[in-house]
Amino acid sequence: MKLLRTMSLLTQFLTRPIRGANHAERLESFYGYQAAEYDEFRRTFLLGRDELASRLEFPAGGRWCDLGCGTGYLLEAAGPAARELAAIYLVDLCRPLLARADSRISAGSWGNARTILADIARWRSSEPVDVVTFSYSLSMTPDWFAAIDAARDMLRPGGQIAVVDFHVVGRHPPAPGPRRQSWLTRAFWPAWFDIDDVHPSPDHLPYLLSRFEMCWFAEGRSRVPGMPWLRPPYYCFLGRKRAASSSHATAGEAADGQPS
Ligand SMILES: C[S@@+](CC[C@H](N)C(=O)[O-])C[C@H]1O[C@@H](n2cnc3c(N)ncnc32)[C@H](O)[C@@H]1O
Repeated sequence: MKLLRTMSLLTQFLTRPIRGANHAERLESFYGYQAAEYDEFRRTFLLGRDELASRLEFPAGGRWCDLGCGTGYLLEAAGPAARELAAIYLVDLCRPLLARADSRISAGSWGNARTILADIARWRSSEPVDVVTFSYSLSMTPDWFAAIDAARDMLRPGGQIAVVDFHVVGRHPPAPGPRRQSWLTRAFWPAWFDIDDVHPSPDHLPYLLSRFEMCWFAEGRSRVPGMPWLRPPYYCFLGRKRAASSSHATAGEAADGQPS
């Protein structure tokens, strides 16, 4: 039964048209029918989230924004230190997924967390935050560079940024830097994800490196549910907002056991 449901969802991903006059309507069209099964379906697909969450540093009394939070998966992955935060903002533009996040907040008695319906390319918290996270949301945000700029504006100097997302690199990635990818990988995955309005970009990593000091970087391959031989690449990036005078880092400089 579970396999049948997985195959049915997968077929809808690949064939069901995404409709809507704007980004919010298209997100609702894509996620509305699958919101209830979102977490289960993404468990083995959106890899790297738990590892990235385990590296977040939450100062007691601090603030955390999860940008493009979906159902709020990171809330539980983040561990007990997140309960000591003064505020957690779960921001997303998709009502059906935010409704699931609201249920998660109630079920987990997260008194310090609240959801916010907003476009992450425009929204900013009114106070500086200590941590911002993008978990598979940059590749779905048309103005992803504006979302990164907004995150930087919100972060206090020294604050953490954590990103996990699908990953394609340019034909000639910088050295040291991310692993090279074959022509097929670089051509296939953007085309495959495009069907669902997901756009992994070789520009994510260079832009993050130009805006933040990198602390850790890792790459991996996940599995498409129901098609485990299809293994999309993903990356994890952990960085900090620099103090004004510090210098840039290059991909791979601080890689933790990963090729650089
Ligand atoms: C693949 S889901 C990831 C959700 C969640 N972070 C996770 O790890 O399960 C991408 C999320 O980004 C949200 N999203 C895409 N574009 C957005 C935008 N411009 N503003 C706010 N949220 C956005 C989608 O609604 C969706 O919840």
